[in-house]
Amino acid sequence: METARPKELDLAIRELSSGGVVAFPTETVYGLGADASNPAAIAQIFAIKGRPPDHPLIVHISGADQLSRWSHQVPDAAYVLAEQFWPGPLTLILPDSKAPPEVTGGQSSVGVRAPSHPVAQALLQGFGGGIAAPSANRFGRISPTRASHVRDELGDRVRIILEGGECKVGLESTILSLAGSTPCLLRPGAISRSQLEETLNLEIHGAEKAPGLRASGLLESHYAPRTALRLIPSDKISSTAATAGPRTVMMCLRDIPIPSSIDRIIMPPNPVDYGVRLYATLRELDQGQYDLILAELPPTEESWAAVHDRLGRASHIPQSSGSKPPVRK
Ligand code: TXA
Ligand code: MG
Repeated sequence: METARPKELDLAIRELSSGGVVAFPTETVYGLGADASNPAAIAQIFAIKGRPPDHPLIVHISGADQLSRWSHQVPDAAYVLAEQFWPGPLTLILPDSKAPPEVTGGQSSVGVRAPSHPVAQALLQGFGGGIAAPSANRFGRISPTRASHVRDELGDRVRIILEGGECKVGLESTILSLAGSTPCLLRPGAISRSQLEETLNLEIHGAEKAPGLRASGLLESHYAPRTALRLIPSDKISSTAATAGPRTVMMCLRDIPIPSSIDRIIMPPNPVDYGVRLYATLRELDQGQYDLILAELPPTEESWAAVHDRLGRASHIPQSSGSKPPVRK
């Protein structure tokens, strides 16, 4: 894995300590970070991203021993989950935030996550505090999974972009709210609902049960390319391809014959590798060379839930009317 050199890491730590902004790799996507205890530093993140100020940020921490620095009332379940899944792609929403309101969008809860990427861990340990970081993309657009994506999209606005190779997960973290009376899954990710339920020995509800919710990752249109994207059931691929205009590209899961007038990309047939490739592929197909991206709908098993969710949002079609929600096994 390509990785940040110690000199760049030192510069990044100094930048954070002096109230600046740094882009850094995590195992999910690249983040745009600032000192989570410094409101002026946080304001720069919102300005660079073009993000509405009431959308809360995740505070990145080195591990579970930091949890009590960010909430007055850390639920026991947070320690149980952190023990099992941290460092890793799981964000926990805690009640009774100690973070500045600029981080939480004025909500009383706070999101925290300990990322596993070695560069993120080195940065967190060197800096010593929490790093508030959304994904390092313009608001509503596709999250970056390589340092070059961040440079392409934000390069003139961010001085320090730490190199960390291609993100191993490629989709944003699972978000679980522990802020209400019952745990709620706010965003599916690499850590599945079943894994969380098994660890907590509890049923986990969907986002509709979460209190006072305002999560930008839950907007129906988010993580979206500029080019129109439509989701196509597997059994309609051939007929849809037959009537598609030129300047169309098809993202298939198998080697299906399609007319030579449209381009085709074969995506990995398993959810882990598909997740790693999805955003980089959408970025490649979104350079203006196509009018339409057609994506074959993946299988409905739970392991595909995060991919389904992001494809649904990228296609601008709400899950309820666009694709069938994945069936849990
Ligand atoms: O994998 C990830 O989570 C990446 C990396 C950089 O860690 N970060 C990320 O951040 O995806 P962002 O800001 O693009 O998405 C974070 C989501 C947003 O939908 C936000 O609204 C939600 O987390 N969130 C943060 N704090 C929250 C809170 N207190 N209550 C509800 N949702 C919250
Ligand atoms: Mg984001």
